[in-house]
Amino acid sequence: MDLNRRQFIQAVSVSALGAAISSLSSAQSMSHNLMAPAEANPDFQPDVELELTARVESVSLLPGQSTQLWRYVGSVLYGDASAFSYLDNSHVPVIRARQGQKFRIHFRNQLPEESIVHWHGLHMVQRMDGHPMYAIAPGATYVYEFTVDNRAGTYWFHPHPHERTGFQVYHGLSGLFLVTDDNEQQLSLPADEFDLPIVIQDRTFDAANQLVYLSGPPPRNVWMQGFAGEAVLVNGAQGYTRNLKRSAYRLRLFNASNAANYIVRWSHGVNMAVIGTDGGLLEAPVDRAFLSIAPAERVDIWVDLSQLTAGQEVSLLAESFTPALADLTAGQTGAALDQGARPVARFVLGAEQIVPRALPSHLSEFPPLQLSDAINRDQPRTIRLSMLQGQVLLNNRIFGAMDEYADDEIVRAGTTEVWEFANNSTVGMQMSHPMHIHNVHFRVIERIPAATESAIAQRIRAGFVDEGLKDVVQVLPGERVRVLMKYESHSGLYLYHCHILEHEDLGMMRNFMIRTALASKSVATVGGADSTARIQLGSSADNWLSLTGEIEAPAGCHIMAAIEPEPAHIGHQGNIVVVVSPDGGNTLLNVTSRGQLVPIDANNLQFYTTVSQLAMRQEFSLFQGVMSVTDRGSYDLFVGYTLDDSRRIDDIIYNTEPLRLTVR
Ligand code: C2O
Ligand code: CU
Ligand code: CU
Repeated sequence: MDLNRRQFIQAVSVSALGAAISSLSSAQSMSHNLMAPAEANPDFQPDVELELTARVESVSLLPGQSTQLWRYVGSVLYGDASAFSYLDNSHVPVIRARQGQKFRIHFRNQLPEESIVHWHGLHMVQRMDGHPMYAIAPGATYVYEFTVDNRAGTYWFHPHPHERTGFQVYHGLSGLFLVTDDNEQQLSLPADEFDLPIVIQDRTFDAANQLVYLSGPPPRNVWMQGFAGEAVLVNGAQGYTRNLKRSAYRLRLFNASNAANYIVRWSHGVNMAVIGTDGGLLEAPVDRAFLSIAPAERVDIWVDLSQLTAGQEVSLLAESFTPALADLTAGQTGAALDQGARPVARFVLGAEQIVPRALPSHLSEFPPLQLSDAINRDQPRTIRLSMLQGQVLLNNRIFGAMDEYADDEIVRAGTTEVWEFANNSTVGMQMSHPMHIHNVHFRVIERIPAATESAIAQRIRAGFVDEGLKDVVQVLPGERVRVLMKYESHSGLYLYHCHILEHEDLGMMRNFMIRTALASKSVATVGGADSTARIQLGSSADNWLSLTGEIEAPAGCHIMAAIEPEPAHIGHQGNIVVVVSPDGGNTLLNVTSRGQLVPIDANNLQFYTTVSQLAMRQEFSLFQGVMSVTDRGSYDLFVGYTLDDSRRIDDIIYNTEPLRLTVR
């Protein structure tokens, strides 16, 4: 299969793309991306520059023979040397960032098949988000450039290629992306050696220590169950054991498994003191007797081990459940059972005692996110989860073409909405589904459980932490869960999907489009790219995406524009033009771009840029030098394109409404 896939990629790249697509089955055409890999932008000045290579490598995981893994190896090319490391000297990578830092990451694909990296939980412009449409071929490089704008928290990264995410993650490709910020630093939470990520992953090994996974094309009924391994690895190791001081620790529990749910608790009977979830620190700590952690969820806890005795051993006990919520524990091999749960991480306490400060009772401020701001508070956007005839469905649909989205999958930047994940279909089978949304964090505002629930579902429910900002939420069989979110950071095409990776790969995933309020099809927006400061617009710089009407653009500002070509033009060569006009399009002004004058002459236009293949949506940073529109006054700014080599103004296709620009 790998060979065929590679040959296919080569075949497509040398043929006319349009013709190639129409002659292939839809499944094959979807596996090819339409987008050119992102390259380094010389105007972007990173604080940290990394190299991240995905490759196949043998690693010693178990006693005896080494295991062939698909793994990320990385290094810091520029900036803080601690920005890239491996967890406990394992194969699990960790990227560390501070809020506001600019990252450039050269992702090199040395796997035998396509891949692309998604930064789970980070807010990204579309092209940096790792959508499968950007997957690159073996041997290719994709350069990510972004500013980390997230709050302090436990985020992560993993591959997101079409239909291969489960396989690639299972074989070793995932890592942590830890963000800190000023607020977190001021809290003096346990840090450095007292800050322990605990990455939980189940894996099955064969007698030769090689990973066992579902093989071949999906037998749909098997894939629908999700894949849960027999052994539980923590930070890449089986039988994870660590010596600790008698002190307070922060543990970042992360279920990085493909499908299994975990219930985790302390062996010494104390409660779990939860300080954070997917989207960072809670406002205040909460207590749970045990935690339920679905695939892709993160829960940060605090624990004071200072009062235990030297030499004492405590552990994290875990029970695992498949998404069908059948109890797997007894059937699993691995460590011995302890009251139905097994220790997955053991901690042996040393003599040194450091009596900690008390856990702060106030941890962080949330961005304002109120139900009263929702435009649909009583009529949530409903996503029906169902499983029927080997399909796992979202509103009766599966993932289609890379850029496909339905009319009911369009949202407006700047708005706040309620979504309801409704897992109460009356036909087909039911499972739990951990639902994930890209590019946003949400609050869980309401759970409406099934009228009758299994004992396991009830126990799992008791371990939920719904208090924080989330990017994954577990939806139990029969349950409806309402979440509240604001589309604040970027416009563009993003994914929502079930994070059981086998479900995602079966197509339980859809695009949604975040559109700006400026135009119906494509837009020009003023503000910073990730790399530049946003200009002050009206009363609130935070609202720049939702802005309508007039804007003020000081000389030297930065303007982002985007086009959405007509579907029939996608794949064609195009010229992209920016026209600034004081009177509705008839008179053209010269503008500068990247410091170069771009003279505009109606019959021989100079184009902003030429692209070899128009993509579904393309974003541009304009005027990175000083704008030459220095005369005060109001102008219309249009962004459009022509096909092939046309340089005539009459051939410009605008599917954008003009952006009104006031130069002051
Ligand atoms: Cu972990 Cu599409 O995400
Ligand atoms: Cu994600
Ligand atoms: Cu699912």
